[in-house]
Amino acid sequence: MKLIIATIKPFKLEEVREALTDIGVRGMMVTEIKGFGSQSGHTEIYRGAEYAVNFVPKIKLEIAVSAAMADQVVEAITKAARTGKIGDGKIFVLDIQQAMRVRTGETNDDAL
Ligand SMILES: Nc1ncnc2c1ncn2[C@@H]1O[C@H](COP(=O)(O)OP(=O)(O)OP(=O)(O)O)[C@@H](O)[C@H]1O
Ligand SMILES: [Mg+2]
Repeated sequence: MKLIIATIKPFKLEEVREALTDIGVRGMMVTEIKGFGSQSGHTEIYRGAEYAVNFVPKIKLEIAVSAAMADQVVEAITKAARTGKIGDGKIFVLDIQQAMRVRTGETNDDAL
């Protein structure tokens, strides 16, 4: 299993969610965050205004999937989230050691 952590521009959330459900992703965590990348937030535009501070609002997605699906998920996020302008986000892929569905006790791939 893989955990895909992606940051995206907030207005892209719906498009990315749709792209992911289209390829069979059944669950995800969504968090509103602030962060910065290689421009330290300085040159990024958010809602028409250049952000004066170092932190720019982003959405963080955390998606647990079977290892076989990970590449597809990364591709779908990349396609849906890209504007070609700075600040389109980052995607990190991590290994998951164990997963558990609390209600049933199912584990690992069966728990996803
Ligand atoms: N090295 C990093 N570690 C952790 N989070 C990061 C890192 N780089 C970027 N992020 C997160 O990703 C978000 C988006 O970063 P951003 O897309 O601006 O990256 P970038 O590398 O500066 O790319 P770009 O040149 O397209 O702006 C940041 O707000 C931050 O939350
Ligand atoms: Mg940046």
